Amino acid sequence: MMGVYNWIVSGAECFIVCLLILIQPTCAGDFVSINCCAALNSTDKNNISWIPDYGWFPNDANCQNITRAANHTGYDKIRFFQIDSGKRCYNLPTNKDQDYLIRGTFLYGYSVGFSLSFDVLIGVTRISTVKSFEDLKAEDLKVEGIFRATNQHMDFCLVHDKGSPYISQLELRPLEDSVYLQRKATTVLKLVSRIGVGNAGDGIRHPDDHFDRIWENPNNERIFISPDSTPARSIIFNASTTVPLKVLKTALTHQDRLEFVHNSLNAEDHNYTLFLYFLELNSTISPRQRVFNIYVNNELHHKEFDIQANGSYYNEVELNVIAKESLNLTLIKVKNRSVFGPILNAYEILQVYPWVQGTNQQDVDTIEMVKNKLLLLNKENLVLQSWSGDPCSPLPWKGLTCQQMNGSPVIIRLNISSSNLRGPLPANITGLTNLMQLNVSHNDFTGKIPEFPSSSKLTSVDLSSNDLVGFLPNSLTSLPNLTSLYYGCNAHFSKESPSFNSSRLATDYGACERQGSTSEIQGIVIGTVACGSFILALGVALICIYRQKFLSLANFDGNRHPMTRNAIFSLPSSDDVDFKSITIQVFTLEYIENATHKYKTLIGEGGFGSVFRGILPDGQEVAVKVRSSTSIQGTREFENELNLLSSIRHENLVPLLGYCCENDQQILVYPFMSNGSLQDRLNGEAAKRKTLDWPTRLSIALGAARGKKFKIIFHYSGLTHLHTFAGRCIIHRDVKSSNILLDQSMNAKVADFGFSKYAPQEGDSGASLEVRGTAGYLDPEYYSTQHLSAKSDVFSFGVVLLEIVSGREPLNIHRPRNEWSLVEWAKPFIRESKIDEIVDSSIKGGYHAEAMWRVVEAALACIEPFSAYRPCMADIVRELEDALIIENNASEYMKSIDSIGGYSLGGSNRFSIVIDKKNVLPPPTPTPTVPSPINSQALAPLEPR
Ligand SMILES: *[C@@H]1O[C@H](CO)[C@@H](O)[C@H](O)[C@H]1NC(C)=O
Ligand SMILES: *[C@@H]1O[C@H](CO)[C@@H](O)[C@H](O)[C@H]1NC(C)=O
Ligand SMILES: *[C@@H]1O[C@H](CO)[C@@H](O)[C@H](O)[C@H]1NC(C)=O
Ligand SMILES: *[C@@H]1O[C@H](CO)[C@@H](O)[C@H](O)[C@H]1NC(C)=O
Ligand SMILES: *[C@@H]1O[C@H](CO)[C@@H](O)[C@H](O)[C@H]1NC(C)=O
Repeated sequence: MMGVYNWIVSGAECFIVCLLILIQPTCAGDFVSINCCAALNSTDKNNISWIPDYGWFPNDANCQNITRAANHTGYDKIRFFQIDSGKRCYNLPTNKDQDYLIRGTFLYGYSVGFSLSFDVLIGVTRISTVKSFEDLKAEDLKVEGIFRATNQHMDFCLVHDKGSPYISQLELRPLEDSVYLQRKATTVLKLVSRIGVGNAGDGIRHPDDHFDRIWENPNNERIFISPDSTPARSIIFNASTTVPLKVLKTALTHQDRLEFVHNSLNAEDHNYTLFLYFLELNSTISPRQRVFNIYVNNELHHKEFDIQANGSYYNEVELNVIAKESLNLTLIKVKNRSVFGPILNAYEILQVYPWVQGTNQQDVDTIEMVKNKLLLLNKENLVLQSWSGDPCSPLPWKGLTCQQMNGSPVIIRLNISSSNLRGPLPANITGLTNLMQLNVSHNDFTGKIPEFPSSSKLTSVDLSSNDLVGFLPNSLTSLPNLTSLYYGCNAHFSKESPSFNSSRLATDYGACERQGSTSEIQGIVIGTVACGSFILALGVALICIYRQKFLSLANFDGNRHPMTRNAIFSLPSSDDVDFKSITIQVFTLEYIENATHKYKTLIGEGGFGSVFRGILPDGQEVAVKVRSSTSIQGTREFENELNLLSSIRHENLVPLLGYCCENDQQILVYPFMSNGSLQDRLNGEAAKRKTLDWPTRLSIALGAARGKKFKIIFHYSGLTHLHTFAGRCIIHRDVKSSNILLDQSMNAKVADFGFSKYAPQEGDSGASLEVRGTAGYLDPEYYSTQHLSAKSDVFSFGVVLLEIVSGREPLNIHRPRNEWSLVEWAKPFIRESKIDEIVDSSIKGGYHAEAMWRVVEAALACIEPFSAYRPCMADIVRELEDALIIENNASEYMKSIDSIGGYSLGGSNRFSIVIDKKNVLPPPTPTPTVPSPINSQALAPLEPR
């Protein structure tokens, strides 16, 4: 029996432990508290100092504000990591062999409505999976673990599964002389619950708790407590305890039995540790008067427990149990022998995870040094940015291959070929003692080849296509296991013939051509598959070539320098096909500064940078989008937008007038859109001044839809490769009302192509690298599958249509819970034909019911969860054209009461949107004041009968 349970601390031990704690300085000085994405240091109401996380992740492109309840005072930012595999880790300083508590906070709200899932790791030990918000408790999800540091630093990692992992806050707390890991040094304890049983208010934490544990109010937790337990409290004690007195001085008691039930544990068997904390609150009760049995899941774990058995009023119990699904802690009075029923002041439930061994420490240290050397000259390199946390576990870093050896992984292959790396080849590479294959080819490495130790296990080395200098070191050519060595295509490498025994070595002898080498064949295959992105890259390259040419030609006199490119575009339907050569101008920085009066009027800010208003010498008003030299983000977006907009023109796209790439400044110049954005007109400041009427809304919707419809034909005729991609679709990826701008005549123009991509074609791998978009507009299918298609924009456009109809924001958590998401809120009303419920109250009476129904119908089809059921943009354009015709005719009818007569909808090839009309469509109820001028035949699909 004794083996089943453990008394953890006798009274005397407790006294010593507590004494130590009391001697310890209790300031929060050793705490590490990180507010992810914060701008500044700050101190909170618990006197804890918080620091930003720019030391770990300097990029603020992936920061987002979370909209919290209006009266919420907590932190409100998240950092998300747009990764499609692997992990991102915060590396925190620790003292070896010291115990720590680490706590990540994941604010609720970011992932509203979408499937999201990522793992949380301490070191390489997985302690939790964070899933989309349905699983999260209200407000904040906290994941907390207790571990013993094995090193001078420890990683806290988020591992990609679905969607972008994110985090809001991270806290590290030293646990000096705590009992948690006394018997479990090789485990990590994940906190399931930490309850101050009698607490009524907010959680109790620092400064009451020296360790900054958070003792929750049981009512806030999803636990069941036997209902007639009565609260007990006392302030009589000043006993030394490991738990704050503030927590212990309240408790629950019952004359017979106390019961606490935790559901929703893991479905499989797991080891759990429970710590129970008892403080006798009634000093008139003497030993042997309160005796009870402790059961977990109906198994007796502690018989005839008496708090005062050790002569103190305070006692702790540690129980180790195996459980699944639920945990039921029951304290039952020992009949006949006890006067009083059981009492409990506080308890913790911790899930036990075996400590997982990380990569061989020498390999870790070596590859970290290699990484740091490489980072010096390759700060923005994507491969290096993805090198985070343990190099091998749970998945190896990009370019590494690992193998288990003596119980921990070691690095056996390093392949960073074609990774765009420059600078000296780090000599530390030779310190990877288990490395068998090394491939650094097709980069811009410079300097000499380092000396290799003779113990090296390398079998294959590829240094080709770099810019290395010097000779092949003997230490390399004489390696005992080496079977292949390539070092060709290093233009400045010694031409002397090397001294090695070529009979046992496959080599290129330093020559550039390699017959039938596998890496070249791979190159061709990759080139073919990735030709979509190749074209993009080609475009960027072209622009750079042109730019250099023009910059060298320009006298920097501030004149515009027209640039003509061979890119043309076409629209698919015959009525609006158009071919044009586009002139993009290169502006000098001076010219831009003059136009904007040195960036005087800021009119907007986005992820890319700031937008300023300016006037060109010819009087044209412009919007100038500036990516500052200090901003790390946005280079790709800049190039993407420049590349796309310099090749297409369409009346419903915001055109690019020109750009400037001087002094590291990247600047794009557009005509100024004097009527702001659709969002502003619908629910921003502009909306408060003047309501946007329904016919205008409708024509804006149509314009925006047309702006989305075009396809592109590219010709780059100056090149030997002639690439003609007939009718490739562009996927905008960030369709939203704030990206639909309005010119002085209220014409809609789609803006912001920073995230755009070509639609995948056959042969492309459909999965995109990262999910981009805006919460509320994001296609759930794209989000969960990461499979990009033109239908993702269609979904977003459907949300815009709903905004136009309802005047509501796509996401607003200040509304009641069931109205947060515009899509989820509107759908049931549309299905039940209660259209009046969703129409913006400020346009009530100002629309023709039939036109409204066309739009709502189109919107509903667009927001189909399955992309296959959504219409294409061209179909939506047709539907909106019909709606506008109906609306305009109704207006004219209103104007001249004379009958228009049998007006017929011209479009015989009208698209029929894929929805079950029987179930969905209501009888159209023409507003009585606006009699329908349309003959019933044309309306056939919508007629009630
Ligand atoms: C923020 O806090 C950190 C750590 O306490 C300190 O090193 C740093 O200087 C502080 N930064 C500012 C701007 O006060
Ligand atoms: C986030 O909120 C801060 C104020 O807390 C504000 O300055 C900043 O502009 C907001 N960022 C975004 C992207 O909305
Ligand atoms: C915040 O507002 C909610 C509802 O509006 C209310 O229930 C809650 O008590 C408020 N909290 C505080 C701290 O005022
Ligand atoms: C619980 O822990 C013991 C050793 O401490 C181990 O042998 C056992 O496999 C664990 N059980 C589960 C279900 O993890
Ligand atoms: C303490 O116990 C005595 C019985 O020994 C009882 O009369 C008294 O009400 C209890 N006090 C509290 C605060 O529960």
